[in-house]
Amino acid sequence: METPYACYLQLPGLLDLQQPRSPDVQSAQWADERLFITVHQSAELLVSQALVDLERASRQARHGHGPTAITALRRVTAVICLLEGHLALLDHLTPESFASFRPLLDKVSGAQSRQFIELFQQITAPDRFTLSTEGPETLPGAHAAGERELAEEFRAFRAAVTRWRTRHLLLVERMIGDKAGTAGTSGLAYLRSQIDLPPRTTHD
Ligand code: HEM
Repeated sequence: METPYACYLQLPGLLDLQQPRSPDVQSAQWADERLFITVHQSAELLVSQALVDLERASRQARHGHGPTAITALRRVTAVICLLEGHLALLDHLTPESFASFRPLLDKVSGAQSRQFIELFQQITAPDRFTLSTEGPETLPGAHAAGERELAEEFRAFRAAVTRWRTRHLLLVERMIGDKAGTAGTSGLAYLRSQIDLPPRTTHD
């Protein structure tokens, strides 16, 4: 029988989702591919939380609730910062080992991640995090102060995404050098072009 802990977290289902394509369960290749899958899956899980918090931050800003919008956006930034460190787990995978199971990935690529795409879109949309004047802050200057703080928090979020992309680029450089990506892009050159920050906006 499952413990209440396992039931609450739906652990049997969650821990059944790591299915390497490497055939030999006893091999180092299988264990390494499992690490590769686990790192991606846990990143997706954390990004799903970041998207929930981004939505909340935007909603709170729209309703003029500066402090709650800032708290939610700060949590998003904390998740992205963690994800940057989390990529370092793949430093424990050698390029030779990655090359051994890479053909099994076929056209699979992180660039197809709908959640990461949505996250990246958000850094180009600072207007979603503009503090509405509808809010409860009635003291003179409170709205402007909230607006400034929210803009600062947005910049921190945008910087964290850029750091994640830079860290990912370094990982890719180590793993595949200048080989093309599995999504068919040029690999490093493509990733470098994505790191360019979006144009400056009213929040900058
Ligand atoms: C061995 C490790 C990794 C390698 C070699 C690698 C390689 C690549 C390459 C070459 C691309 C460019 C697109 C293409 O495939 O043609 C890419 C994009 C991407 N990868 Fe990875 N990746 C690795 C790990 C990860 C991890 C752990 C994640 C987290 C889920 C991830 C998420 C992404 C995302 C979101 C993009 C799009 C990047 C952007 O638009 O800036 N990758 N990856």
